[in-house]
Amino acid sequence: MDHFHYIDGQLHCEGVSMDEIASSVGTPCYVYSRATLLEHVRRIRSAFAPLEPWVCFSVKSCPNLSILKAIAGAGSGMDVVSGGELRRAMEAGCQASRCVYAGVGKTDPEIELALRAGIGLFNVESEEEFATIASVAERLGIPCDGALRVNPDVDPKTHRYTSTGNRETKFGVDLRRAAAFLRATHGNRWCRWRGIHLHIGSPIYDPTPYHQAITKALSLIDELAADGIALDTLDLGGGFGADYTTGQSPSATSYADIIVPLLAARVAAGLRVILEPGRSVAANAGSLLVSVVYTKDSGDRTFAICDAGMNALLRPSHYDAFHFIWPTRPPAGMVPSVRCVRPEMDGLVVHDIVGPLCETGDFLGLERAIPRVARGDRLAVFTAGAYGMSMANRYNSSPLPAEVLVDGDSFEIIRARETYDDLVSHERVGELAVTLA
Ligand code: LLP
Repeated sequence: MDHFHYIDGQLHCEGVSMDEIASSVGTPCYVYSRATLLEHVRRIRSAFAPLEPWVCFSVKSCPNLSILKAIAGAGSGMDVVSGGELRRAMEAGCQASRCVYAGVGKTDPEIELALRAGIGLFNVESEEEFATIASVAERLGIPCDGALRVNPDVDPKTHRYTSTGNRETKFGVDLRRAAAFLRATHGNRWCRWRGIHLHIGSPIYDPTPYHQAITKALSLIDELAADGIALDTLDLGGGFGADYTTGQSPSATSYADIIVPLLAARVAAGLRVILEPGRSVAANAGSLLVSVVYTKDSGDRTFAICDAGMNALLRPSHYDAFHFIWPTRPPAGMVPSVRCVRPEMDGLVVHDIVGPLCETGDFLGLERAIPRVARGDRLAVFTAGAYGMSMANRYNSSPLPAEVLVDGDSFEIIRARETYDDLVSHERVGELAVTLA
């Protein structure tokens, strides 16, 4: 599932020892494997090859410029949800025409930026947004393409914070209103309807909701076709799983086995399919490396207090998400053969693996059976490449972690660790000038 493995009892990313990275770059630090990243892009491309999809990597999952460059270099477009993400995609060498732009709150300046850059497709989330895009496009004299994000009201069976395709969420236009809206606005010269966009949630481990959502989207496309309104694009969004534990996620082929038969004949008849994978590409490609600052036995609990917690990786405290955690140099014979919730091995000690912040919710993993750790040990938090660094924050004035990209036997710092100067640089009141975005 990835290129993080133990060689002679020491954790390596590809050919580089994680301890070597920690010694030279410090911790906390995100470490990414280029080979894993590209392998997951390849798997998605090959599983969905019969649909010849336009693969747009979801920038929000792992927005570092070097990561985006690697993915753009492999031929992918980008799924962006803000002006900032569009800027990153372009700076990484991905043309705006290869980007799709979703998000429920696109501002007028962001819409203008995207239009001037020549955005490939707006994934439009509401009637009011459509009117705004069309009017900004008219003012600038730059027509654009749009896909209507519909809310198909299916249950993706995932965390309620990341379920986006059920009716009560803020995303897309209710399927029951979509046909009438598309009929009413079809023919707009400034935002030309090209298709339908779906993104029902993340992660989705049971492919069935894709079947339900796609079937509903195809009925809508057929209903409109009967009225002479031709839509040639279906954007399926993201949502494929990743292996937080060994073998947890269906493979790209398992999703394709459900999706490809639904769409193959349509593609042969001219339908363009877009995929927006984020987690399935980036999650297994990254680990967060932290150091144990102190250990503490409180009688009934043993704590490993690390140099980062919910500031560097929010997922455990925000979603109760599980990330496998293990020392980079465990005692002899204590190398895990699989990553699982309850490792079976003699001599493990149950730890609460926590961060330094002043909240009880600041943890990386609770009640984890791992080898006993000591001050100075390093721990790897696996499957942290997606929504790890991108959701990191500076709570308790914690500088953001460094990021490193490994390629074979070498590595490169792709984001410098923040300094205390960085922390205060935007707050030097006397020196501040008003800048318009
Ligand atoms: N397309 C759209 C419109 C999205 O909103 C998302 C993710 C994706 C694609 C990519 O989905 P993926 O392939 O990564 O599942 N912070 C949460 C995940 C939030 C996902 C938001 N949207 C987490 O840490 O689990």
